[in-house]
Amino acid sequence: MKKKILVARAVFPEVLARLEQHFEVASNQQDEPLTAAQLADQLRDKEGAFTTGGERIDAQLLAAAPALKICANMAVGYNNFDLPAMTARGVLGTNTPDVLTETTADFGFALLMATARRVTESEHFLRAGKWQRWSYDMFAGSDVHGTTLGILGMGRIGQGIARRGAHGFGMAVIYHNRSRLPAATEAQCKARYVSKEELLRTADHLVLVLPYSPESHHAIGAAELALMKPTANLINIARGGIVDDAALAAALRARTIAAAGLDVYEGEPKLHPDLLTVPNVVLTPHIASSTVPTRRAMADLAADNLIGFLVNGKPLTPLNPEVLAKGR
Ligand code: DGY
Repeated sequence: MKKKILVARAVFPEVLARLEQHFEVASNQQDEPLTAAQLADQLRDKEGAFTTGGERIDAQLLAAAPALKICANMAVGYNNFDLPAMTARGVLGTNTPDVLTETTADFGFALLMATARRVTESEHFLRAGKWQRWSYDMFAGSDVHGTTLGILGMGRIGQGIARRGAHGFGMAVIYHNRSRLPAATEAQCKARYVSKEELLRTADHLVLVLPYSPESHHAIGAAELALMKPTANLINIARGGIVDDAALAAALRARTIAAAGLDVYEGEPKLHPDLLTVPNVVLTPHIASSTVPTRRAMADLAADNLIGFLVNGKPLTPLNPEVLAKGR
């Protein structure tokens, strides 16, 4: 008999078809996000769940899902998982590292450049029919080449952004991270380790790529923004909640920093209303990993984790491998 799984959000039909070869699948191709109560109800009799960052897996949900053995997240970030609670109940969590690294780093750079060069602000001006003549300071922005790139959170994606900045744009790269990188990695990225304060005070473009956790909540708030140069740009492709969005909107309005590029928000998909009214911010809807090949690779890896674990006993990218050792 096939094991039962839930695919909690819509996914590529080919990936769904592959899962259906191995499992009895309940799917959500209509893509209505499930409430916590609906998710718990759907998972009551399931051994596996294909999740995205929008499905919260916590102790309360796990108590309602006694058969659950694995949640395979189609995301590298997994702050929607209460991993200690999952481990305590013997539920494996998996994510999708590596397959999105370069695509996400590309987007970090795209957002940096769009922000520095005021791409969306000038496009809105043009579409509104306001362009009458060329002028010497029209949408004059910040340079990217030869400036200082700061990176907060120097994991795989941060390193990808550092390489692009150092090797492609001749930027001086500085970074801050929980732990310093090995010298060889620093050399590849041409990156110099600095304190968080020096990073904030020195960067012309500060890119946030750190994971969200209670420790990184509001890592960038009013005090940190006040340390940044008035000419600096802030880019957040990490997670909502790392930046205090109200403080950022106030800094943008007061122009104590020049501009921001944001792909993630506190409480997304809702946005702090002030972010929608300040002109010096580029806003995108959490799409940093969204290219067709990369989203397909992420979906395939999440499916491979479900098949690997529930059919063959070997997941590819486990987050809490201690569950495997316990052999539930
Ligand atoms: C990730 O993979 O964590 C991205 O943010 C997509 O959700």
